Amino acid sequence: MTKKRILTGRRTFLLGLGTLAGMGTFTVAGQFKRLNSQSQTITDLGRNFAVAGGASLRDRAANKGLIYGSQGHYKFLSKDPELAALYAQESALLVPGNDLKWKDLRPSPDRFDFTKADWMAEFARTHGMLFRGHTLVWHKGLPSWFKETVNSRNAEQMLLEHIATVAGRYAGKMHSWDVVNEAITLRDGRSDGLRETPWLEFLGPEYIDIAFRAAAEADPQALLVYNDNGLDSDSSKTEKKRAAVLRLLERLKSNGTPIHALGTQAHLGESAIDSKYTGLRKFLSDVADLGLKILVTEMDVIDKSFPTDLVVRDRMVAEVYENYLSAVLDEPAVIAVVTWGLSDRHTWLSKKKPREDNMPVRPLPFDAKLKPKLAHNTMALAFDRAPMRDGQIVLPRQTPFYDIQGHWAQVYIQALAAKNIISGFPDETFRPNASVTRAEFAAIITKAFTPVQQNNKAIAFQDVPQNFWGYNAIQTTSQSGFLAGYPNGTFQPGQQIPRAQVLVSLASGLKLSSDDTSVLSVYQDVAQIPAYATNKVAAATQQKIVVNYPTVKLLSPNRNATRAEVAAFVYQALVNAGKAEPISSPYVV
Ligand code: G3I
Repeated sequence: MTKKRILTGRRTFLLGLGTLAGMGTFTVAGQFKRLNSQSQTITDLGRNFAVAGGASLRDRAANKGLIYGSQGHYKFLSKDPELAALYAQESALLVPGNDLKWKDLRPSPDRFDFTKADWMAEFARTHGMLFRGHTLVWHKGLPSWFKETVNSRNAEQMLLEHIATVAGRYAGKMHSWDVVNEAITLRDGRSDGLRETPWLEFLGPEYIDIAFRAAAEADPQALLVYNDNGLDSDSSKTEKKRAAVLRLLERLKSNGTPIHALGTQAHLGESAIDSKYTGLRKFLSDVADLGLKILVTEMDVIDKSFPTDLVVRDRMVAEVYENYLSAVLDEPAVIAVVTWGLSDRHTWLSKKKPREDNMPVRPLPFDAKLKPKLAHNTMALAFDRAPMRDGQIVLPRQTPFYDIQGHWAQVYIQALAAKNIISGFPDETFRPNASVTRAEFAAIITKAFTPVQQNNKAIAFQDVPQNFWGYNAIQTTSQSGFLAGYPNGTFQPGQQIPRAQVLVSLASGLKLSSDDTSVLSVYQDVAQIPAYATNKVAAATQQKIVVNYPTVKLLSPNRNATRAEVAAFVYQALVNAGKAEPISSPYVV
């Protein structure tokens, strides 16, 4: 790839304008074309950022025996179904950014609060994600009581109790633990490079061995990781840090301390766009020679000093990822790549590395609207191009339900489950072919469209008493136009809902209509469509809400809808309402 230096504004920056095999050469006459980001496509940026197919980052990585995952926070994931759905779709691993730190777990010296961490562990489990712990021993993220409570007399007991309690709680559920985080800094001037932390002060360098042994005892199945930052660049300072970390790892290994992997955080900066990474490559190889695996644990790009122009900035961030990943993924011992966040909607960099132009930072693969960016593309390309890892990784099943793996409606069911719109049964099945009652359908509609309850008075259905479990959902959906009762004043809550009624309900609730019913001629069984339904089914058909499996041209309007079919129709209706991303499926009419 030929690179050109282009002067623009205050900054000189390298822009990878390159020649790609078969793509011909794209040269810029001295000025970077200001592309309207709306019209820009990923091939008119001077090179092609296009990725093949629509596979998720998780699947692209898994295809090469790699794990791709991301950091997340209980406080965002538990309240943002769209964000949760993106994590479920893109990440094969979840690591809490803060929820497993001392400060977040321990409100007082003798109390643990696992509420947030347990929620995160369960979220990972139900969405087929590995769970990663961060971090058991660090000098930051400590509770306010730590300083006046922990001392040289009780430090070891406090450390052991913390690790036994926390790592023990998730034993068997944890892919890996950052047992010790950021123990090395050259700033403190020690010959062993160790950071002057309370742990070092109270327990000496052995605190690291003590921590790893305690973690191994608490959770023999977890991969035990030493995690650190600033290991990436070509600078001599970084070279010295890498050497100190390597010495620490060698010491731990020679002590027989149960350490399994190095975590390199990879908070990458501007220099990364043209780093050769020679030193990093050698370091990773030396770490691998110790018999250790390597995880990239907190990857993101600090775009603080990048130009304001979004097209240029996004491209530079993308190329930092491309350049870095092409270096680290060449090392077979690298088994995982974790980004410190998934979407620009939530990143620590907003507060910690804000831009001078006060523009929102854009460090992650998905933007704040959860749309993939060029960074997503270069990460996807890096996974697609990565050498195959030996040893197949076993990812948890991605579907929250055992019985929909490979089902034609799996993607719809999964997406609605990730949005907490539908749920399965206690035995973790979904029963996709079971029927749906009108009351159950009303409950799904209420969650999917959370219709604002009309303020008109409740509708009195003779067969829906106030103490009926579905009373509120039936009231809400009836008053918001999704559902109606029968002329005789009943609702028939227990009646299995036919497919035509589901479509009429969705079209009605979304206020869709169509007086052109000619579109119905697409159905071989058009004659079976009940007269009351023709207008709404025509509208639903025109709006791509109808999904017919296995035969697209067979509507089967009077057959009772299955749970899978309701999921597909409701998902398509959410797409129509702009509440969900389109999913390509051969069964949409
Ligand atoms: O939640 C409280 C809020 O209630 C309170 O009002 C506010 C007042 O400042 O603090 C909030 O807690 C903050 C927390 O992030 C949640 O936003 C803490 O002060 C703040 O220190 C904490 O920062 C985290 C930092 O580690 C320190 O724990 C960042 O989110 C987190 O991204 C960052 O992650 C670290 C890794 O753990 C280790 N590697 C470096 C990485 C980046 O610094």
